[in-house]
Amino acid sequence: MTVVGIGADGWGGLPEASRTALREADAVLGGVRQLELLPAECRGERVAWPSPLRPAVPRLLAAYAGRRLAVLASGDPFHYGVGRALAEEAGPGGLRVLPHPSSVSYACARLGWPLEDTEVVSAVGRPLARLAVVMHPGRRLLVLGSGAGTPVEVAALLRERGYGPSRVRVLEQLGGAGEVVRDGTADDWPHPPGDPLNVVAVECRRAPGALPLGAVPGLPDEAYEHDGQLTKRHVRAATLAALAPAPGELLWDVGGGSGSVGVEWMRAHPSCRAVAVERDPHRAERITRNAHTLGVPALRVVSGAAPEALAGLPTPDAVFVGGGLTAPGLLDACWDALPPGGRLVANTVTLESEALLAERRRRHGGELVRLAVAHAVPVGSFTGWGQAMPVTQWAVRKPLTSDSPSGAQS
Ligand SMILES: C[S@@+](CC[C@H](N)C(=O)[O-])C[C@H]1O[C@@H](n2cnc3c(N)ncnc32)[C@H](O)[C@@H]1O
Repeated sequence: MTVVGIGADGWGGLPEASRTALREADAVLGGVRQLELLPAECRGERVAWPSPLRPAVPRLLAAYAGRRLAVLASGDPFHYGVGRALAEEAGPGGLRVLPHPSSVSYACARLGWPLEDTEVVSAVGRPLARLAVVMHPGRRLLVLGSGAGTPVEVAALLRERGYGPSRVRVLEQLGGAGEVVRDGTADDWPHPPGDPLNVVAVECRRAPGALPLGAVPGLPDEAYEHDGQLTKRHVRAATLAALAPAPGELLWDVGGGSGSVGVEWMRAHPSCRAVAVERDPHRAERITRNAHTLGVPALRVVSGAAPEALAGLPTPDAVFVGGGLTAPGLLDACWDALPPGGRLVANTVTLESEALLAERRRRHGGELVRLAVAHAVPVGSFTGWGQAMPVTQWAVRKPLTSDSPSGAQS
């Protein structure tokens, strides 16, 4: 199977190796728009991708097994393209890939932006809300458009998140005869929807007075909508450090409250995943809103009480218990769900739960710490310390084998 990248310049923009693969194929799979770019000299059967594409891939590949098959992909097949699905099915050795420059390479070429300094976000089949994680003053972003409406949606999101002064350029039909660039700012986006094939380039500028959100855990408490049930900033930063999110890992945030721990876990890396379990349905809804506002719309929220609500959840790499520690069976259910090497962190401000954590530490090892944060507050005309309730935190790593002491692993 040969995967051929093709651009808006169609057949005319293909190198000879790609043309030969398409001419000699018994069948060519591709989108309707891409198949229409092929000249009559490509005599193979033309098969349009069904929608949705992913579930149909195994059946289509099986149907053409043993025949010379070419697959048309937009630009670089392995950049947000069909290459992923094909490699999953055929294995990386089962493909011959002839890439074309991606729309992102074209955009950087037109803008004079180094690709390695440019953040790329795809709006194709994914919520645009993820943009909120990568908006930082001075950063350059490229959004792969999902249709003619993407530029207007990007401008609206930038305004809502305090980035209205950002310069926005829309690059349409990159590499094709109809290539055009539209320019404006998010605050004042003057253009009606244009071509559905577009990339939106953003030079991020934060509005004066907008809340700065950094790239590391410990976002300001004001970044969250909350009812007081929020792990406060300094304790939250220490909690995320103890949880130590790594790319691809899954967190259970048990007693999610406002969702801040799950949100900041997911902000650590685009591939981090989290499930927040919250018994109060209003708070569960609030977690969804916070996840959306703070750029991690994929955070899964389970509305229900643990431990019952934990049943059937995918195996976590780490568990945070921020509420419900004294609920019968909750801590055991979390511990049992962890695979060997998994991490558990539990925070509490009550003596009853603290006693429970001290007992667990005797049994499983790990680290018990007390986090006491005080803020400078006015005392008459002077200043004193306003002491927040101290938080007791137990952080432990489950032993890798049944006979190794967990203390040595933590
Ligand atoms: C202190 S808050 C957690 C704050 C959270 N880490 C944050 O930063 O937003 C504790 C939460 O646990 C929830 N909770 C208590 N018991 C629970 C249980 N058994 N199952 C699920 N949630 C529970 C409460 O409703 C409350 O929202």
